[in-house]
Amino acid sequence: MVKLPDDSDPTQSDDVMEAWEDSLKERYPKSPQEEAFNPTDPNKKQEAFRNYEENARPSVRAFYEQNHRHQTYEFVLDKKRQYLGFEKKTMGIWEAAEYLNQLVDDSDPDTNLSQLQHLLQTSEAIRREGRPRWMILTGFIHDLGKVLCLYGEPQWAVVGDTFPVGCAFSDRIVFPQFFDANPDSTNPELNSKLGVYEHGCGLDKVHLSWGHDEYIYHMAKPYLPMEGLYMLRYHSFYPWHREGQYDYLCDETDRSMLKWVLDFNQYDLYTKSHEPPDPVALKPFYEDLIGEFFPDKLKW
Ligand SMILES: [Fe+2]
Ligand SMILES: [Fe+2]
Repeated sequence: MVKLPDDSDPTQSDDVMEAWEDSLKERYPKSPQEEAFNPTDPNKKQEAFRNYEENARPSVRAFYEQNHRHQTYEFVLDKKRQYLGFEKKTMGIWEAAEYLNQLVDDSDPDTNLSQLQHLLQTSEAIRREGRPRWMILTGFIHDLGKVLCLYGEPQWAVVGDTFPVGCAFSDRIVFPQFFDANPDSTNPELNSKLGVYEHGCGLDKVHLSWGHDEYIYHMAKPYLPMEGLYMLRYHSFYPWHREGQYDYLCDETDRSMLKWVLDFNQYDLYTKSHEPPDPVALKPFYEDLIGEFFPDKLKW
């Protein structure tokens, strides 16, 4: 098991990543499809959301405190400069999944899946429903950006709900009060509704808080269809896809792609089971699928 940077910091404990993902299911117990079929009263939904915040585990709360404090506009631009040149490693996709798999949570071996198993569980659920091959592959790679943890990034800069920086933070982002400690929230250039953006500019022009989504999006950009790229880039953008915020920054393409992000969300969040998929048995299928879309080696 990989030792994360600082054991004394509760946000660096090895179960925070798992805890964040569990917390998403507590906040969104219904899949987007179930919600659309049986719309929850928005007031009730907000109430459940705030109840969730009150009862959140200390490690999750501490995680968001750090995340909201440090994810500034400058920080995001810095991380993009640091990582989007892809000068860290050379690996194939399967190799990257095995590399990521060093990052395991051994605090609860009965219920926790490895990173590779989560990827396979997501992609296998997509495959079982006869969805397109590019979508199965998108499921398989969607969390590979978590290799950022193995490059030494703190977890608050790898996982967590993402949100735009460079403009006002929505109060529908989980734990909005923690943005008080973010210097951007008192910067008049960055704290207005539009901030550095133009109305309807499109999400492609908007910088989201830095994390694993943006990183894997840029890796996959030359190789997957637009629908898959939206799934990768925005899968943690809960304030947009589950809370309906930031529409004023979207263009028509974003609006037409939202259904794909929601479509993907059900597989990411609601397919976790205790039956771990078998990577050895599945590897030949995935090697084949990867080879259809990606080159043998990629720069990370
Ligand atoms: Fe993710
Ligand atoms: Fe995931």
